[in-house]
Amino acid sequence: MTKITIAIDGFSSTGKSTVAKQLAKHLGYVYVDTGAMYRAVTYYAIQNGLINKEDFNKETLVYQLQNIQVNFKFNETLGFAEVYLNGVNIENEIRTLEVSSFVSKVAAITEVRRKLVEQQQEMGKNKGVVMDGRDIGTVVFPKANLKLFMTASAETRGKRRYDELISRGDRVKYEDVLKNVQDRDYLDSNREDSPLVKAKDAIEIDNSNMTLDEQFDKILNLVKMAL
Ligand code: C5P
Repeated sequence: MTKITIAIDGFSSTGKSTVAKQLAKHLGYVYVDTGAMYRAVTYYAIQNGLINKEDFNKETLVYQLQNIQVNFKFNETLGFAEVYLNGVNIENEIRTLEVSSFVSKVAAITEVRRKLVEQQQEMGKNKGVVMDGRDIGTVVFPKANLKLFMTASAETRGKRRYDELISRGDRVKYEDVLKNVQDRDYLDSNREDSPLVKAKDAIEIDNSNMTLDEQFDKILNLVKMAL
């Protein structure tokens, strides 16, 4: 069967990764969580004292990009690939509110994007890939066979991210999580390099009032039409 490229973009916490994982599993495709790659670089910057509340040493981060290797390794038990930074599994560490609060600043740096986009294009070059992020249908794979643009109300998204963090055992306040989701959407949509915009040929899916099954069925139909 022909393999296609599926690009899923959209605002924070719109459930992109959930549906991307479901699709990849169902189709036997590779799933690439590009947000995890930007989070990994951000985690590196925090760990190495290059970024904190008062200060952000962009020049040093750009200089040190050559020391940063981000990879994925498939975890059979979980059924998806986990992210590694320089050989260390950091799948849990990158999901904190601290990383979320700096990631959009790191993702706005052109040199960071250039490095990660090149790697993403390499990972998807043989098709049979579901990739989610903010610029997949516009920059990474502008010729993707199917482009989806996910949306949901800010409150729905804030609640989803809050529930996710609480279930991990993180002690966070709903207001802080909601603010982070809104701040990231603003920064991601207004940066100069590869801002978050809906590609002209993307299909918009507002899943505020959809169950996961409804969403999956709807998207699987779109995939069948694109095959
Ligand atoms: O998808 P996730 O919410 O984990 O992404 C974290 C952040 O990484 C986004 O808020 C955005 O700043 C950045 N990102 C990006 N381009 C992508 C994927 C993520 O700029 N393709």
